[in-house]
Amino acid sequence: MSKLVDGKAAVITGGSQGIGKATALRFAEEGADIVVADVNVEGGHATVSEIEDMGANAVFVETDVSQKEDIQNMITTCIEAFDGIDVLFNNAGIDGPLDNIVDYDEDGFDKVIDVNLKGVWLGLKYGIEAMLEYGGGSIISTSSIGGQVAVPQYSGYGASKAGVSLITKSAALEFATDGIRANAIAPGLVETPMVNNIMKENPEMEEQFRAMEPMGGLAQPEEIANAVLFLGSDLSSRVTGHTLAVEGGFLSQ
Ligand SMILES: NC(=O)c1ccc[n+]([C@@H]2O[C@H](COP(=O)([O-])OP(=O)(O)OC[C@H]3O[C@@H](n4cnc5c(N)ncnc54)[C@H](O)[C@@H]3O)[C@@H](O)[C@H]2O)c1
Repeated sequence: MSKLVDGKAAVITGGSQGIGKATALRFAEEGADIVVADVNVEGGHATVSEIEDMGANAVFVETDVSQKEDIQNMITTCIEAFDGIDVLFNNAGIDGPLDNIVDYDEDGFDKVIDVNLKGVWLGLKYGIEAMLEYGGGSIISTSSIGGQVAVPQYSGYGASKAGVSLITKSAALEFATDGIRANAIAPGLVETPMVNNIMKENPEMEEQFRAMEPMGGLAQPEEIANAVLFLGSDLSSRVTGHTLAVEGGFLSQ
């Protein structure tokens, strides 16, 4: 059987761990060349090594997604290494402060918006610009169920993730006839370092987290990676502007 993204060049932000790493490995397994972009240098090189051990191609580029120059450099790196850019996964994100709005730290608000929302906007801006030149492509950005329903104490995170779904629709409409698709994913709770750290710092939340989704337990990063693979491959050729929830039925309640 042919591979789902054979020969495509894919840039994956936040690829040093968690959902981004699982997606980088999954795309490599399905034949893509991978650019891993992250602020975490050690983790990024580790992802690249794992991909190379599979016999696939990958490069790491140190990137802070909130910085325009870093996003431009990440995209240029992909074009130079793999002769183009077909897929961009705007996935890097942080959870930001956990507090009610009155006590919520203002710098923390700015930071979560800069990374989670502006970072995705910059990815769309420069990713689409490059894809227009290199024959089109598919951009997937990471939203969250926290961007679809309000989660108390997560006003900054929720605003950033709701924004991701909306700018995804803007991009989809603006470039619908240019061979460019823009979609988002909205994971529920996924067992990654981000969620493991929250549960470690707030042990009382673990039981609550594990009971939150109707299917029970936490998703594995590979389950999210498969949804991204669908949106990044030609299997989803008619899908654009969509936010695909991968949340064990949470939003059906
Ligand atoms: N884990 C979940 O339950 C869950 C649920 C919904 C949405 N998400 C979203 O999925 C995405 C990935 O989350 P995860 O759970 O894998 O988290 P994670 O913390 O395990 O991994 C995030 C990665 O992003 C990188 N990163 C952080 N800030 C960056 C920046 N400014 N520039 C470049 N890289 C940066 C980190 O170094 C890390 O490698 C995030 O956008 C997160 O908000 C996660």
